[in-house]
Amino acid sequence: MAGRIPQAFIDELLTRVDIVDVIDARVQLKKAGREYKACCPFHNEKTPSFTVSQVKQFYHCFGCGAHGTAISFLMEYEHMEFPEAVEDLAHMAGLEVPHESGSDTIPQSTTQPHYDLLEAAAEFFQQQLRSHPQANHAVDYLKARGLTGEVAARFAIGFAPPGWDNLSKALGKDKAARASLVETGLVIERDDGSGVYDRFRDRIQFPIHDRRGRTVGFGGRVLGDDTPKYLNSPESSVFHKGRELYGLFEARKAVRKLERILVVEGYMDVVALAQFDINYAVATLGTATTPDHLERLYRTVPEVVFCFDGDRAGRAAAWRALENTLPVLRDGREARFLFLPEGEDPDTLVRKIGKQAFEQRITGAVPLSDFLFDHLASQLDTNSIDGRARLVDQARPLLARLPDSIFRQMMIERLAEIAHTDPVRLSQRLEPAHESPPPADTAQAAAARPGKSPVRDAIALLLYQPGLAEAVEELPFQAQDSVPGTALLTELVELLQRRPGLNTGAILEHWRGREEARHLNKLANWKPLVENLDLAAELNGLFAQVAQQVTERRISQLLENEHQRPLDDEEKQELKKLLLARAAGP
Ligand code: UTP
Ligand code: MN
Repeated sequence: MAGRIPQAFIDELLTRVDIVDVIDARVQLKKAGREYKACCPFHNEKTPSFTVSQVKQFYHCFGCGAHGTAISFLMEYEHMEFPEAVEDLAHMAGLEVPHESGSDTIPQSTTQPHYDLLEAAAEFFQQQLRSHPQANHAVDYLKARGLTGEVAARFAIGFAPPGWDNLSKALGKDKAARASLVETGLVIERDDGSGVYDRFRDRIQFPIHDRRGRTVGFGGRVLGDDTPKYLNSPESSVFHKGRELYGLFEARKAVRKLERILVVEGYMDVVALAQFDINYAVATLGTATTPDHLERLYRTVPEVVFCFDGDRAGRAAAWRALENTLPVLRDGREARFLFLPEGEDPDTLVRKIGKQAFEQRITGAVPLSDFLFDHLASQLDTNSIDGRARLVDQARPLLARLPDSIFRQMMIERLAEIAHTDPVRLSQRLEPAHESPPPADTAQAAAARPGKSPVRDAIALLLYQPGLAEAVEELPFQAQDSVPGTALLTELVELLQRRPGLNTGAILEHWRGREEARHLNKLANWKPLVENLDLAAELNGLFAQVAQQVTERRISQLLENEHQRPLDDEEKQELKKLLLARAAGP
């Protein structure tokens, strides 16, 4: 098995290949100042917000937030695995990928065997639907529900036959396969340790695919009225219900350029709609729509329509979806709500009224703004001052969740209109109090700051110009948990001193797969608003501020300790020193 790829090779690779060539070969780039631009390949847009920086060797889309290095681009765009993307770039650069060998070799992927096994299980279930002696009652059930063989094949629908060990016998050939069967939840270990049994028995099997089309789990439906009606694969290392959406892969495959997605509740709804040539429905997997789901959806399309029952439970679920949607509703993204007549779900309704009438309902779905205000107003008397004041009270925290956007501004104006109040004053009350303009620093310093905290500013500066680290002799502070980011900043400075000459992309690759990568990627977009800043001086200033923060935190920690118990001599000394240092000023 191939060993891990040494980080030093990744460093070398990312200084040899040019991200501009890599991307331009797939998405035509236009030069715009020092950077390159294109319409983003990861979401729908008409004006280009996808930016590639040659200096940083980093791409970023201001529309959908997609970002990363040349490696990430190949992984996202070409759906490659990490080692595959590295191979591909190495080939371009005429380099051979070395692999670390030795006993601590880690396998290329610990999840691949699970994917292989799930795929084999999907094939097994499909095979059973064709050939199992009792398959006819499954086929009859599907026919009775109005499914054609063609749509069943498109969704790779299968049949788990009755019996406790069909799958475990067919696929549990060796120890590794049996372990994968347990890990992916296809079989369940008996409590008394006497072996395993199949999770899915005598059920219609709906394979759940991830974005790349790999089978990651199953939903299984009983053929009659037994309970539970649906059984789902449990969470596993390859299956996360809060992330996957049933039918998304199939929709992307069926429609070349998806414009909108309909979110429904059930597997059967997705399949029935597809049979009526409405190929853009997806379902959550028996859970509410999570922010993660929504981020995924809006990366694919600009418009999401939620479809719910018109009853109380449906409206409550729709409201939860609305609350989760607010934070991701940047300009250009739209959400609407389609409420169905009582007693209907998309499956039954589309069979009754057909494609055209169903799509007319989708077109007429309620915009999020109407749903939000109507829902709040329906519980209050907006004719009274009291009622209107309460409306404002209840709408305020919701609107505050919207990202700063034209849409948010319009929502505020609408609220002001409904409440008969002044939009400007309303808007001021919506903003958190501390968001007044920063104190008048020097103009230069203000322009240098990405904001938030000196630690973040310093990291942003270093990612913008990694060479600055070479002049740093010694950091004037020690990393401390109570000042977030100081450990990361220290690690970054150490890396840059150890490996001078890394570009931003290569730096970010050092954090691939780590929690901190998110912060670094965000900060990597920063650039100074004005030219000719003395960035080295800025950085020193920021370090001094960090040092001051660290000192303050430590002082309050010691003083707090003193409240609980007398300080020991060492602590007393430290406190004295810190207080003196503070008095002397920076
Ligand atoms: P529904 O009961 O509305 O399913 O549950 P449906 O798709 O209309 O089912 P049919 O038409 O009777 O076949 C909606 C979704 O909730 C989850 C499943 O994901 C289902 O598709 N669910 C439902 C479960 O996980 N377990 C259950 O027992 C029932
Ligand atoms: Mn149904």
